[in-house]
Order: sequence, then C-alpha cells, then structure tokens
Amino acid sequence: MTDAGRHPRIKLHTMSEVVDVKGYVGNFDVRIVKRARYVDENECTACGECAKVCPVVRPNPFDIGLSSRKAIYTPFPQAVPSAYVVNIDECLGHNLSVCNKCVEACEKRCINFDMSDEEFTERVGTIIVATGLEVYDPTELDEYGYTRFENVLTSLEFERLVNAGGPSKGELIRPTDRMHPKSVGFIQCVGSRSARKGSEYCSNICCMNTVKSTLILKEHYPEMDVKVFYIDIRAFGKGFEDLYKRSRRSGVHYLRGLPGNIEELPDKSLRVAVENMITGKLEFYDLDMLVLAVGLKPAKSTQRLQEMLGLQLTPDGFFLEAHPKLQPVDAATRGIFYAGCAESPKDIKDSVTQASAAAARSIRLMHKGEISSEPIISEVIAERCRSCGKCAEVCPYNAITVDVKKKTPAVINAAACAGCGNCAAECPFGAITMNHFTDDQILTQIDAMLEEQSGEKILAFACNWCSYAGADYAGVSRLQYPANARLIRTMCSARVDDRFIWHGLMKGAPVILVSGCHIGDCHYINANHWTEKRIKKVRRTMETLGIRPERLQLEWISAAEGIRFAEVMHRMEKLRKSVTETEIAETIKILKNREKK
Ligand code: FES
Repeated sequence: MTDAGRHPRIKLHTMSEVVDVKGYVGNFDVRIVKRARYVDENECTACGECAKVCPVVRPNPFDIGLSSRKAIYTPFPQAVPSAYVVNIDECLGHNLSVCNKCVEACEKRCINFDMSDEEFTERVGTIIVATGLEVYDPTELDEYGYTRFENVLTSLEFERLVNAGGPSKGELIRPTDRMHPKSVGFIQCVGSRSARKGSEYCSNICCMNTVKSTLILKEHYPEMDVKVFYIDIRAFGKGFEDLYKRSRRSGVHYLRGLPGNIEELPDKSLRVAVENMITGKLEFYDLDMLVLAVGLKPAKSTQRLQEMLGLQLTPDGFFLEAHPKLQPVDAATRGIFYAGCAESPKDIKDSVTQASAAAARSIRLMHKGEISSEPIISEVIAERCRSCGKCAEVCPYNAITVDVKKKTPAVINAAACAGCGNCAAECPFGAITMNHFTDDQILTQIDAMLEEQSGEKILAFACNWCSYAGADYAGVSRLQYPANARLIRTMCSARVDDRFIWHGLMKGAPVILVSGCHIGDCHYINANHWTEKRIKKVRRTMETLGIRPERLQLEWISAAEGIRFAEVMHRMEKLRKSVTETEIAETIKILKNREKK
C-alpha cells in the first residue's frame, strides 16, 4: 500500500466511496464521494499528540474490539496516508467550550473541523473490483458459545492476539485471566460447508490458516496442548501439505469431528463434547481457550456495486467471472476485472496472482490507446427504427441510446455492445441486425434443417457458451442422444427471436428446444432472463392459438452438463413422438391463417 501511495502514476483516494459509474470500456466516468478526514493529510506527521489528549475512548475495530482507540486515530499502523482521522460521530465536538483539545495539542495546526465531504468524477479506462471480504459472525452458532464464553474467540481475534503489533504485543493471553493458556482448541468450518447456518461453500483459507496458527503456537509455546477439530483438512496448494505434516509432527492433535456442545467450567476453561468420527465415540476435552475458524463472506458493498456496474453474482454472492477457465479475472462487462476475494474466497498468494493478472489484463487493453472490438455486435437499420426504446430497455450493457422524444434512430455503442443479440430479438420492427447471426442466416438454417422429413426432427437452439458446449461435451463423452436433433448455435439464448420459433413451427417442426446457460450464469449478465420472458410469452400465444405449448421447451444446460444435454434430448425425442402428422399440419394451417390476418 505504501508503494501504491508513493507511485507517481497511482492516485489513491482514501476514505472514498464510489457512488455511481457510467460509460463503457475506455471511458468510464466514476463518481466518488471523499469523506472529510478533518485532518490535513499533507501536513499531519502522525505524531499522535492529538490522540493523547482526546477524551473519547472507543473499541478499536482493527483489533476486533480487543483494544481501544480515540475519536482521533490512525485506522491501522501501516495506513496510507500516514495521517490521523477524526470520527466525527464520536468526536465530542469542535466547540471550544465542549472539547477542542486535539486542536490545541496539534502544533502543526492540521486539524480543521470545517472540512466537508467532497464529490468528484474520475474518467478511467478500466476498472478493477477488489472489494475484499467479510468474516462470518458466529453469534448464531450458539452451541460454540461465542457470545456466552469469553475464552471462545474467532480466528481473526486470535490473529490479532498473536500479532506483535496487536493488543497484547503478540502474547497469547486468555481474555478472562490474562494468563497464557495451557491448551487451545481450534474448531474448523465455522460458518462454511454448512447447509444449516452460514454458507455452503468452502472458505478456502481456514484450514491453512489454522495449520499456520498451530505452528506459531508450537514455536512459541512448545508445551502447549493444541487440538484441531475438523471435518477434513484441505491442504491443497504449493507447500501446504508439507506445512500440515509439520504441524502434526510438532505434536498438534488433529481430531476428526466437530464439537456438538461447549460448556464453561468454574475456572473459565471450556469442556468440549465431540464425537470422534474415527472411533465413533463421544469424547470430552477440557481446554483453556477455543478458536473458531470462521468462514469468509462477500463484502457488504458487493450488491450495491453489482447494481452500479451491471455485473453478475454467483449464488454465493461473490462476483461472477466472464468464464471460469478462460477469463477468470474478467467481468462479463468489457473493461472490468476482479481481484482477490471479490470473486471468491482466496488466500494471499491467490489474491496477489489474481491482482497481477487483472492489472496485466487492464494494461493489455489500454496500452494501445484504442481497442478493437469483436465483429459480433448489433447494428441498427436506421430506416426501420421507430425509436420505441425497447432495445435500450433490454440491453444488459446499456450500450444502446434512444431519444424517444426526438424520435431519432437508436444508436449502439460498438465498444460497449457484447453481442448477445437480445436487442435484435426484442425489436418489433426488425430494425436491429446482429452481425454473423442475422435473422436471414438463422431463418435459412431453420429452412435447411426442416427441408426434408421435418416431422422427424428436433429443432434446438443452443447458446454458444453453455448449451452448445454441453452438446459438445456429450459428444466427446460418447453419450448417446437422438441423431435427429438439429442444433442452431446463437451467442446467447436471448438471441432467439420469437419469429424463429414461429418460422420453425410453420416449417413443420414437431418440437422446438431453446437452451442456454443456467439463470445467473448467462455470459451476457442477465440476458437469459429475457429468454425466459420471451418463451413464456410465445407459449401463452401458442395456447391461445390452440397449439400445444409443450412443443416449445426451455432448458438451462451448462457446458459441464453433457449428461443433462443427452437426457434433455431423449425427453425431446419422446415429446416429438407424441406429436402427430395431423397436429403438425393443423399448426401450419393455424399459423398461415394468422399470417394472412
Ligand atoms: Fe448462454 Fe446467455 S450466454 S444463455
């Protein structure tokens, strides 16, 4: 952070919050509110005289409340800039008659209570989202007694206690008697891998953090009895298995099983009841201190930022990358990248790796001063556009602008368009064409596929990123699925225009499948929500017209679901067999009559 603070080409906005982001790759306008520090950061030398006289004492959040700080303070020892800050909500006031002690103590006259929050806009080319994480609050897990017993700590609190710069200067002390504990237990997976409370995912870092903590304890207090209660130890990664073995060799007792109950004894030590999963017996251990290896959660700001930047979240609440294997640091929106725990729980090494990758991806995009965009983007046919604004409404990237009042044709920003084709499918006037996936190209494919023995075919639309890849996976896995399936690839399921479905039915398709990525996994933010709406609408119309709506199916199939793809195709074949020649002929008649009207 000090390096970043000193770098001539890095502008650090501390105490600042992003309140709005507009624009697109190369031209993002970021609106920022910088909170008032009430101390001149260029003049303050962090001498600390102000804090000495400040009468307000509050728990220090950096030490998780294990120490205290004043209302004027440095957030943490290595904070950049190295300047004090006033928490104005805690400060007694700058009225001379109330306090004003810090102002009097500051020789350099850095404290200024007239400062106010500033708002400004920065234009940037790319954005790296590195919003960090939160730790799980174990208060809801009452069986571990975190709120009832003082000697039960979280791993973060433990971390502060054994830190040389922490509240006890690195001495491990029991909160109740301030003595060195003779025995310490660690409980793993607190708030992780649980369907009951906390999160279902593995928090990635807790096992190795505990292994590291046990080694520190054994190094400083070789006689200490250290126990770890775990489900399984996940020591993947370079050198981690070695560390785990070292921990075991140093005498740490790893016990498979999570405690079911903790009881406090009169001397404030803790009795842990645990079912040993190896022996199958209920065992009891008396320990001086317990550490809960708490899991990681997405940062609180994630949701707000997701809405502001139009990004996607995973069901766990972390930011979703554009592609888990090929673009693991890119967001679906071009020019936005992720680093660290914003994307998933990570340790320091992985965070540094991802941050370096994000910086490199960002530089690669920016260094030329211009960007080249994919040819698969939408274009407006100006003479057909009636400026209704529907395309702009459905564009997940806000890449389309329409002046509905002036009635000027829609304009697509080529740099911001990602090429999902949702606008082309939505336009009621056929005024948007999508390069390489034009209406004519797709309609011709339908014609070719249904030219002969149309009643024998399954017409399927598959999105490039998930379902088409799922079909490919089914193929390379040698899975059997009906050979009469005919696939049309579109970039996103949202490109499937209702006209394609009507055209397919008119050409005698007995059944039609529209398939795409699972909801939340669409590679074009949330474009497949529109697929869902569109299909529902078509099915309602089919019902009104007297066409069996089941003949149109919508399925979400991911790239890894080859088996599911084959199963869906078998189901489609069963459905196809239920559609008679008469039914197909009747459908064609209905649709022709509808066309005439
Ligand atoms: Fe697969 Fe949108 S990319 S549904």
